[in-house]
This record gives sequence, structure tokens and C-alpha cells, in this order.
Amino acid sequence: MSKSAVLAYHQRTKHTFKAFAKGPETLDWDDQPDPFRIFEGCPIFTLPPPGREPELSWQQFKSTTCAPKAMTRDNLGLMLELSFGLSAWKEFGPDRWALRCNPSSGNLHPSEAYIISQHDEVLPVGVYHYQVYAHHLEQRATIETPTLPGEMYVALSSVHWREAWKYGERAFRYCQHDAGHALGALSYAASLLGWQVELVNEISDVQLASMLGLDKAEQFVKREEETPDWLCRIRYQTDDVLAGSVEQLFTALENAVWQGKAQSLKAYHMYHWKVIDEIAQVTHKPAGIKSSYNSLEGEDAIASHNANQQPLAALIRNRRSAQHFSRGAEPMPLARFKTMINATREYQRAPLNSWRWPPAIHLFLFIHKVEGLAPGLYCLPRSQHGLDVLKQKLDSAFLWQAEADVDGLYALHLNDLRNIAKSLSCYQAIASDSAFSLGMLAEFDAALDESVWHYRRLFWESGLVGQVLYLEAEAAGFRGTGIGCFFDDEVHKVLGIQDTSLQSLYHFTIGQPLQDDRVQSLPAYAHLTQS
Ligand SMILES: Cc1cc2nc3c(=O)[nH]c(=O)nc-3n(C[C@H](O)[C@H](O)[C@H](O)COP(=O)(O)O)c2cc1C
Repeated sequence: MSKSAVLAYHQRTKHTFKAFAKGPETLDWDDQPDPFRIFEGCPIFTLPPPGREPELSWQQFKSTTCAPKAMTRDNLGLMLELSFGLSAWKEFGPDRWALRCNPSSGNLHPSEAYIISQHDEVLPVGVYHYQVYAHHLEQRATIETPTLPGEMYVALSSVHWREAWKYGERAFRYCQHDAGHALGALSYAASLLGWQVELVNEISDVQLASMLGLDKAEQFVKREEETPDWLCRIRYQTDDVLAGSVEQLFTALENAVWQGKAQSLKAYHMYHWKVIDEIAQVTHKPAGIKSSYNSLEGEDAIASHNANQQPLAALIRNRRSAQHFSRGAEPMPLARFKTMINATREYQRAPLNSWRWPPAIHLFLFIHKVEGLAPGLYCLPRSQHGLDVLKQKLDSAFLWQAEADVDGLYALHLNDLRNIAKSLSCYQAIASDSAFSLGMLAEFDAALDESVWHYRRLFWESGLVGQVLYLEAEAAGFRGTGIGCFFDDEVHKVLGIQDTSLQSLYHFTIGQPLQDDRVQSLPAYAHLTQS
């Protein structure tokens, strides 16, 4: 029953050549939900000013293991800033908008981040909401217990309405992509401090909602509630001395004292997309989800060839989505291309080492302009199992010609496919003017058969892979853009997919960006020093 509900949602939110998934007929910009949530009535805990510049370079990040730094308020603040904080303000004519270190579909940012502290030295034991605009913490809950055994936790939730306001029924998918990107962003930021991010899967969504106070309906405006996404343990110790269990933490939080109330997001909710509430309900994570896979025991990491000396923090802050690509750019050097796509299989390195399941997302690529590779359709399975499934399910006429120069890459069909790539991605030129664009195929049925909750997990994984590509593109001197708008079943037709064993969940594109000089860029946090 619930698998059929997920399939029904997935099917009805597909864009087709004939019609886009159901969304608002008109966009009322006055109804745009506030991207910055504030809980009023909470004690504020300040964080050190944003903008600190640790020296760790991209090359060091890729080639060494950074010794863990101490868990201090300074370092915690830096991690939050580089994961979810502002990266710049943009101005064009009368319009002004903020960008963040994590990307978001339509720049709508449905995500909210929380900290659960278990040690008084950094923050009194309790639950904190990260207020992005002010870059400080709002203490949502205190716990009358001494320090708990265990480490620091970061959690994420989504206000689906923020995304649905613009994208209607398909918005639930985008919220999940964003949650995957946010996990990647957190993992990159933590690794700058030598910390490791571990997804915690033992607990259910009901438990997580209770741990974050999201189940206190009276503290949220109706239809602006938050739905729990993920919980991560931040490992900042080299030994296990502090290791406590999340169940212990859950029990301690049952006695938490809650304070504050979410301010209204100032939207008047012209539309209500009931199907989003329904799919959120159906895909709630139950307790006891298996996550035995340990990425550290996974497939071999692949050596990187990019010796970029820029600080990782600068790359994180400068990450942007390309709006246009230079059609006349030189072909992308093969070494750069290899480094980027190989990074999507570096399972032992941040951010993929935060993932707890075998890879279920595989890439198909439209290569337009890459040195040494003929233009055409290619495939990069991210595991041996993926290769077997894809060989069985994709069009039997495909070449499956192994590319000698790029380990694991197969040419499927050689031709200039720029027009097809563009048409499939909702006619967006970013998919055709780049060096290459790609789609992410999920092992869909197999995941849903295990638990329908995995519907969300598959989108998270695609967002996580997207975050790898964003950072790798930036480090290689190129730029990427996530593409959530594509014609699902038209993509499947091109690939010869005839059932739901594989589904394309996300697209991405990378190339030489064109800058729009009319858009002015302003510092991220000047408002903190001005007031
Ligand atoms: C899940 C997702 C889907 C996106 N889809 C598109 C898209 O279809 N077309 C596009 O031009 N940009 C797309 N973007 C890029 C966003 O518009 C961009 O992340 C946002 O405006 C914030 O800008 P920034 O990435 O430069 O911080 C997408 C981003 C994400 C994370």
C-alpha cells in the first residue's frame, strides 16, 4: 500500500513535455515565506563572528587526514557557518537576496539546522536552533541532567511550505535534495576541523521530531511546521571514550524543558499542496532502519589529481551555481574531468564517508566538450552492483565501451547530444552549454521494497553527490549547477528504461561559467557589524 502511494506521488510529480507537475498558477512574491526562521522567547547564545579563515587547503583536505581540533564554541560556530551560513548577498536593481554555503532549489532554503549539546563546556546541555541571519544559537530546550556521555549532534529539518510555495507538488523532492546537499555541506565543513560526520539512523522520525521539539504543534504556526530529516553525530575525538548512545540522549530529552515559539514566516498560504503532507507522512522514517554498511569498509578511494592550494573554507564560501556557461570555452582538460567524477566514488573521504548505505545512485553523462572524449552519452556506475543492474536495464543497443582513460566510465552512444540534454532538462541551456551534464539514476524499486522511507534517502544521496560535484567543480576552476527541473520519463525513454527499477532523480551540469556583471555581490555578514 505505502509503496504504491510513493509510486503514485513520484509519478504525479513528473514533468512531461506536455505539462509540468502541479504548481501555483501565479507566484505572489508577497507570499514568499521568510527564509530565516526565528524562535522568539529563547535565550540567545552567541557564536564568534563569521569569516574566520583556517588555512587547510583543498589539496591538504584531499591528501591528508587533518588532526581533530578541539570542540569549542569558535570551532562549532565555524562549522555551522560553513555548512548552513550565509556566503554573500546579491543585488540586482531593487532586488536583494542572500546566498548560503549550502545550495537550495530556487534559493528557497527549506532547511533548519539544530545542535544538541551534551557537554556544558561548549554550550549548556540542551537543544539549539541555528539562526542563519544572525549567526547565533537560540536555546530551544534545557535538560536538567549533568553532562551526558556522547558527542555533539547536528540535526536538520525542512519547512516544506518554503519550497512548495514556488514549486507546488514536486517541492517535496527538492526538500530532500536540499537535505542531501546540507549533509554534504556539513561534512565538508566538519572535515576542515578534522571532525567526522556520521549519519545516525537508529532513531525514527517520531523520535527525532520529539528530540528537536518539532512535535510541539502549539509552538509553530499552522502549515509552517518542520518535518525532521536527519541526525548526525559529530565525531571530534580520536578514541571512543565519549561514545554514548542516541537512545540515552533520547531518554534524557524526554525531560527537556522547552522554550520559545517559531515566528510566522509571514506567508499567507494561498495554496495548500495536500499531497506533500501525505507523502511526508507515508515516507516517515520508522525505528530500526538497517544501516550496517560502513563506508570505511567500502570500495577503494581513488587518488585525486587536483593540487589546488586555495583554502577549503574559501572554496566553500565561493561556491556558486552557474547561471550561464561559455559556449565557446576550450574543452575541459581530461585530468580535471576525471578528478571530478572520480570524487563521486571516493567513499572513504568526506563527505561520502558520512553515508551509511551502499551506493544506489549512478551517473549517466552527456559529454559535450571534454578533451579526449568523443561527445555522447556515457555511464558511470558507482558500484559493481550498479554496473550489473544498469547493463541489464538500459537500452540493449548501447555500446558499453569501457573508456581506457577513465576508470569505470562507459560510452553508451556517441553523437552530439547537446540539444537532447537541453530539452530533457526543461530546455535549460545550462545542460547543453557546459562541458558535460549528467543525470543520477537511482536503484529505485529495490530501495522502496526494503522500506518506503528510502524514497527520501535516495534523494539525499543524489543531493550528497551533487554537493561533491559543486565543490569539485569549484576546486577545478569550473562551476556546477544542480538541476531539479527535467522531464522524467523522457529521460527514461532516452536510456531505454521501461519500468521503475531505475529512475532519474536529479541532474547536474559543469562547465566554464559566465559571470553576470549586472549582479552586485556584497559581503555575507556585514549586517552584523553595522548594527
Ligand atoms: C535541488 C536543486 C535543484 C536545482 N535546480 C535548478 C534548476 O533546475 N535550474 C537552475 O538554474 N538552477 C537550479 N538549482 C540551483 C539553485 O537555483 C541555486 O542553488 C540557488 O539559487 C542558490 O544559489 P547558489 O547555489 O549559487 O548558492 C538547483 C539547486 C538545487 C540544490
